[in-house]
Amino acid sequence: MLQNIDRIFEEAKQFKARTKEEIEQFRILYLGKKGILADLFRNFKELPVEQKKETGQKINQLKQFITEKIEALQTGLADDSDHRNSTDFTLPGPPVQTGARHPISIVRSEIISIFNRLGYTISEGPEIEDDWHVFSSLNFPPEHPARDMQDTFFIEKDPDILLRTHTSSVQVRVMEKEPLPIRTISPGRVFRNEAVSARAHCIFHQVEGLYIDENVSFADLKQTLLYFAQEMFGKEVEIRLRPSYFPFTEPSAEMDISCQICGGKGCNVCKYTGWLEILGCGMVDPNVLEFNHIDSYKYTGFAFGMGVERVAMLKYQVKDLRLYFENDIRFLEQFASAW
Ligand code: DAH
Repeated sequence: MLQNIDRIFEEAKQFKARTKEEIEQFRILYLGKKGILADLFRNFKELPVEQKKETGQKINQLKQFITEKIEALQTGLADDSDHRNSTDFTLPGPPVQTGARHPISIVRSEIISIFNRLGYTISEGPEIEDDWHVFSSLNFPPEHPARDMQDTFFIEKDPDILLRTHTSSVQVRVMEKEPLPIRTISPGRVFRNEAVSARAHCIFHQVEGLYIDENVSFADLKQTLLYFAQEMFGKEVEIRLRPSYFPFTEPSAEMDISCQICGGKGCNVCKYTGWLEILGCGMVDPNVLEFNHIDSYKYTGFAFGMGVERVAMLKYQVKDLRLYFENDIRFLEQFASAW
């Protein structure tokens, strides 16, 4: 009988309860009318007198242990308002909703990473700018239409304080403070006073590029942009440069890439031309270098500027700009697997 009591003791020690019901079952099993202890007491009566003392003590110890254990279990559950003891660690956890990066952030990082591989640094400038950094030092004539109220959000007049209309302003900030040679890209938000439509928005993102050193040529610009296009859109992409005009570059060009949808054959995305416009570029106008105290006889440079939304549109075939700004979860979650 003594051995039997030891075994019961052991079993009771092992017991763990997670719910009130389990504690109650445990109580009934041991202390109930037909429970284990009642049984032991019944058997105890039959014992020869010489065994009674020791066995009686053991049974009493067991009873006391069980009673205390039940109390401890009950207070443990009651104290534990966050049910720490009742957690079933084998259950699957509640589903975790993972976010997705915004397509504009994805494309922006990709552009940055491509130019990083070519040794470009990243530079930033203020979104609220003055006329000098956005227009005058970039060789915009005083009557240039881009300065117009229709394009620019002015904050103050005379002296003009405005929201930058392009990240080319960061070029100037860099030329002002960085030593030569300069090789930098400037990603950032820009603002234009335009009606919001599928093709235009009053806030969008650009990445500006600037490279100034001795002997920088238009061929360097072409090769850099070809590398960028192939890294961004795939090795089979072709580029084409069309002569264009920007006040701050001379000569200036716009770059097209071969249409990725029809492979250059012509489709409604490329308006049957086989080409899609992607960025503006050119050789930094000597005036701009001189405005910023750089010797234009010694140094030359190229610059380029692209719209991040435009690149994203071409990459993801999303043609309505507004989708990038509305934060509709059904649109955004489609980019969850992109890096
Ligand atoms: N700043 C121009 C724009 O907003 C883009 C651009 C064109 C930037 C030519 C350049 C450049 O650096 O060389 O449309």
